Amino acid sequence: MSTTTTTAQPLLEVRGVTMRFGGLTAVNNVDLTVGTGEIIGLIGPNGAGKTTFFNCLTGLYVPTEGTVKYRDRVLPPKPHLVTQAGIARTFQNIRLFANMTVLENVLVGRHTRTKEGLLSALIRGPGYQRAEAESREKAMALLEFTGLAAKADHLARNLPYGEQRKLEIARALASEPGLLLLDEPTAGMNPQETRAAEELVFAIRDRGIAILVIEHDMRFIFNLCDRTAVLVQGQKIVEGDRETVQGDERVITAYLGAPLESAPEAGAAPAAVASVPAPAPAPDEATAPAAAASQAGEPTAEPDAAQAAEPADESDPATENEQSTETEE
Ligand SMILES: Nc1ncnc2c1ncn2[C@@H]1O[C@H](COP(=O)(O)OP(=O)(O)OP(=O)(O)O)[C@@H](O)[C@H]1O
Ligand SMILES: [Mg+2]
Repeated sequence: MSTTTTTAQPLLEVRGVTMRFGGLTAVNNVDLTVGTGEIIGLIGPNGAGKTTFFNCLTGLYVPTEGTVKYRDRVLPPKPHLVTQAGIARTFQNIRLFANMTVLENVLVGRHTRTKEGLLSALIRGPGYQRAEAESREKAMALLEFTGLAAKADHLARNLPYGEQRKLEIARALASEPGLLLLDEPTAGMNPQETRAAEELVFAIRDRGIAILVIEHDMRFIFNLCDRTAVLVQGQKIVEGDRETVQGDERVITAYLGAPLESAPEAGAAPAAVASVPAPAPAPDEATAPAAAASQAGEPTAEPDAAQAAEPADESDPATENEQSTETEE
């Protein structure tokens, strides 16, 4: 059974979004609704089009077809305007200002919410100083919220991998979004960090922020999400609650390549879906950003891209099966 209905008030309404790259249709006629207060999951095998779909929602790509509405308004396909409208995101391959402090990274995330312009910043008048003090206060509060306050003065590059992911979330929250898009927030985390990330997502939702999350960790997805949509080869094949998704043979086939020999019982399907490999084992501090940076599907059109965490080590065994389609500008 597939459903796109939501009882909550629609916040994000995606209709018929298609993204073609030459002959490849990466996202094919996808509808999705996210309501106020919802946590919605987006799953699918590697290369299914999940990140491309996020890029279509956030203005990094202009969809070939379809519309994306947020709070009943069609979104302009420009990342900063999408952020301004109220949608923030994190990236599959972590993008932090590696040589800036943790606090500074969060302050960067606030720029769409501060009115002080460049001239004001240069003059550093009372208005600017007031705004800056307020921004620092809000940024510190977010670091408290995400458990990073003690590391406010550390360079982002020196954070362990799990904390870099949390910092990306703190930076996204700094833009005061109504909807947060998370692209594989637990990739590379150990089990404890993953459980803590679940708590953080619930806490974010409790602040009134809706969440759309891509993950390969099925336990994480099904613990958190009100509904989950499954993308396969660009198409949404099913959407629904845990039972609906886990019991759908098309989902099992998509992950395992063929139906199971013996027809799965209701209780057997979850094991099959849960057997999807995680994208990367928990890496250590030195290799983690590199592992993340080699994952596919993300253009680096944003201003912070040039200063993102260390470039990928293509020989890293954790990532050698990943394809990289990054387009440095
Ligand atoms: N800029 C691009 N140009 C050409 N092809 C692209 C581009 N971005 C993505 N693709 C292709 O679109 C398809 C979907 O990729 P995408 O990164 O969205 O998948 P994904 O579901 O996020 O996979 P993963 O789980 O591995 O992150 C892939 O075949 C990918 O190679
Ligand atoms: Mg992806």
